[in-house]
Amino acid sequence: MARHLLTYPNPILTTPTNKVSEITSDILALIDDMVRVMRESQGVGLAAPQIGESLKIVVLEHIPGPKDDPTDAVPLQVLINPKIISRSQETDTLEEGCLSLPGIDVPVERSKRVKVRALTPIGATVQFPANGFHARIIQHELDHLDGKLITDYSPNKAELLSRYASSSASDEHAVL
Ligand code: NI
Repeated sequence: MARHLLTYPNPILTTPTNKVSEITSDILALIDDMVRVMRESQGVGLAAPQIGESLKIVVLEHIPGPKDDPTDAVPLQVLINPKIISRSQETDTLEEGCLSLPGIDVPVERSKRVKVRALTPIGATVQFPANGFHARIIQHELDHLDGKLITDYSPNKAELLSRYASSSASDEHAVL
């Protein structure tokens, strides 16, 4: 069966993920599925548990539309076992949505800049800085790998989740 997007309260979304020990053909097939689901869902990022695999893999891509800031563009990236190795003290706060929590937006304070280390699908180690929207997507997706969701940043978490069932999807904000 084709993998598909999972939404809260599926328990895999709140479970910390496992490291990828070897990049097998199954892992590459999973990555293809992640990219497909991210694009079909018009998200700018997706983490493996969001399609049912509790593994440390994220994909991200943002092609700015006519109303988006063109400097926010992020080319397709696949990050395996990613780690934030440093982050700026300077932060900003923006409303975020999540494909796995349709209809919920939460203001989230994040570092403006991060430095990331990860494996690529061919097994090479890469290290790179990310700024602005790119840094925000990475921090959001890496939270998924720890079983952390945007609602964990809300002081009204319980209330938000209780309203969740009746809320409708919003297209006002980027969904990560
Ligand atoms: Ni998300």
